[in-house]
Amino acid sequence: METKILKPTVDLETAATLLKAGELVAFPTETVYGLGAIVTDSNAVQQVYRAKGRPSDNPLIVHLYDWHQLENYVEKVPATAIKLAKHFWPGSLTLILPIKEGTLSPYVTGGLKTAAFRVPNHPWTLKLLKAVDIPLVGPSANSSGKPSPTTAEHVYHDLKGKIAAILDGGATTVGIESTVLDLSEGIPTVLRPGAITVEELTAVLKQEVQLDTHLITETARPKAPGMKYKHYAPNVPTVMVKDTDWHQALNWAEKHKLRVGVLASQTILPKMAEENCYYNLTEHNTVAEAMQQLFAGLRYLDERELALDVIFVQTFPATGQGLAYMNRLQKASGGHFYTSDLSVEMIQSNKHE
Ligand code: TXA
Ligand code: MG
Repeated sequence: METKILKPTVDLETAATLLKAGELVAFPTETVYGLGAIVTDSNAVQQVYRAKGRPSDNPLIVHLYDWHQLENYVEKVPATAIKLAKHFWPGSLTLILPIKEGTLSPYVTGGLKTAAFRVPNHPWTLKLLKAVDIPLVGPSANSSGKPSPTTAEHVYHDLKGKIAAILDGGATTVGIESTVLDLSEGIPTVLRPGAITVEELTAVLKQEVQLDTHLITETARPKAPGMKYKHYAPNVPTVMVKDTDWHQALNWAEKHKLRVGVLASQTILPKMAEENCYYNLTEHNTVAEAMQQLFAGLRYLDERELALDVIFVQTFPATGQGLAYMNRLQKASGGHFYTSDLSVEMIQSNKHE
């Protein structure tokens, strides 16, 4: 199948028509690109899993254009959900809620009695959702295991020939996937950290919001099925480097004759940038910019032609938005930090092909 690149200004109707006919179309959001299919068409939804190579027990997010649509799919929309929706939607917050049986294809929820919902903040995609007028599933439009796509080119790279079209809305502004908040039982719980922080959620709800235990204790089993899978991993072994360790880390790589890719702010790496393969992670050394560039930078440095042995990435304190940034970076690096006892074998065991 030929994968068409559609321009939102002229081709929005084409995208809507393809989706209504049960085809897959990738769409931009403010976080990452999503792979769209209508939520009521089981064939199309199954195709989404196949195109991504995604395990079928990992449920999908239902994308709406207006929070009132929740009422069609959720038995009784809780007051907490309405409060959060009014405050944060459209935006990068996904809410897990109990569903009305039979309103979604069972493949959307992987058989669960809850589903994930969000209204994405992207003008063209909101128009597309209105034009289709049936909600769309939208897992990140990458091959399973790869960093999520933040440009139409990333989607094309992973899914060309497997999906009908990509709606090209340019680079996404947030850069990592939405915060997933479980409202289906007990204390509201963040299952996946994102740009909307626990502090912001607590301030709006005026009640306790907790982190899923796997975000606190490494050995705990994550509640969001998707969080247990290896994610975002480049083929080239990736290592986290704390601000004070750059000098030592680069000396170590030189000693072992390793070809290094550096993903960091130029402000902490003024001169090393020229000597190494370099991608500027953040202009102003902010975590928001680093989040926006993380996946694009990992994909860039993972290109075969660069033939790198290792990628070194800047860390941020794991507080506020830094929690989400470090969560994705931990996964990309398999948890490896540069330390004086890091060995070449250790990072090579983290190589993927
Ligand atoms: O920003 C985003 O959320 C992007 C854009 C495209 O909207 N989408 C995205 O989808 O990241 P995906 O499928 O890659 O991630 C959805 C996450 C997975 O970790 C999944 O396991 C979890 O949400 N999830 C979905 N339904 C769930 C449910 N009923 N209970 C618990 N976790 C659920
Ligand atoms: Mg994903």
